[in-house]
Amino acid sequence: MYAPSELKTIPRHVAIIMDGNGRWAKKRGLPRVMGHREGVKRVREVVTAARELGVEVLTLYAFSQENWRRPSDEVSALMELLQTYLVNQLNEMLTNRISLRAMGDLDRLPPAVKKTLDETIERTSGNTEMILNLALSYSGRYEIACATRNIARDCLEGRIDPDQIDEKLFSSYLFTADYPDPELVIRTSGEKRLSNFLLFQAAYSELYITSILWPDFNRSEFVKALIDLQGRERRFGMTSEQLKPCTVNGY
Ligand code: FPP
Repeated sequence: MYAPSELKTIPRHVAIIMDGNGRWAKKRGLPRVMGHREGVKRVREVVTAARELGVEVLTLYAFSQENWRRPSDEVSALMELLQTYLVNQLNEMLTNRISLRAMGDLDRLPPAVKKTLDETIERTSGNTEMILNLALSYSGRYEIACATRNIARDCLEGRIDPDQIDEKLFSSYLFTADYPDPELVIRTSGEKRLSNFLLFQAAYSELYITSILWPDFNRSEFVKALIDLQGRERRFGMTSEQLKPCTVNGY
């Protein structure tokens, strides 16, 4: 068991690619949806852990734009699980003062899910303890394209000058404009890729890849990932010597 007492620093923003639900189910001879159902339990557990540990923003990759290509019964099951999660967790979010946000091409969600999502976001909007940011119908390239389109529009309409466009301004057009970049990106199930997740924001994120499948990624595994992060030196292109007297990004 990995205990929070071993944690000296807590990252402000943690992002997770929750992978391996299907394999977890297959290993047990169960339908894939059972893996997703068990995965929702870990979502609840990790959200609670992050909130207790003092993480400010937890971003979960819950459904990618590529996931729309899955068999329609699996897509429907995932949408139903999302809807049920939102309904069941509202009180928990209110009690724990968690603010729900979502990012992605949200208009593609089934209308009933979109309605519940909007209502949950609205009902929890005043909460300030932690932001739970769900990436839904999300694609990093789509996000960058949207940002570029909006920047171009603002240039054409005279709100900004093209010479003003730098990394900071670009970031302010992303879905994550209000959050710091994630210090840590966790990926479960052993795959070693970003899969179109936070492509701009993860430029300097530390990656933590574990072979544990998402339905087995419990609170202890989450704490273990944070302990692993604090043993790393984040140099942002500088040398170790340069880093010693200062901190970067408050980390
Ligand atoms: C990847 O596993 C996981 C997903 C595509 C969906 C993640 C969804 C959940 C954990 C549950 C719903 C989320 C919320 C927030 C209620 P996979 O199916 O690709 O696994 P595999 O690679 O082993 O097939």
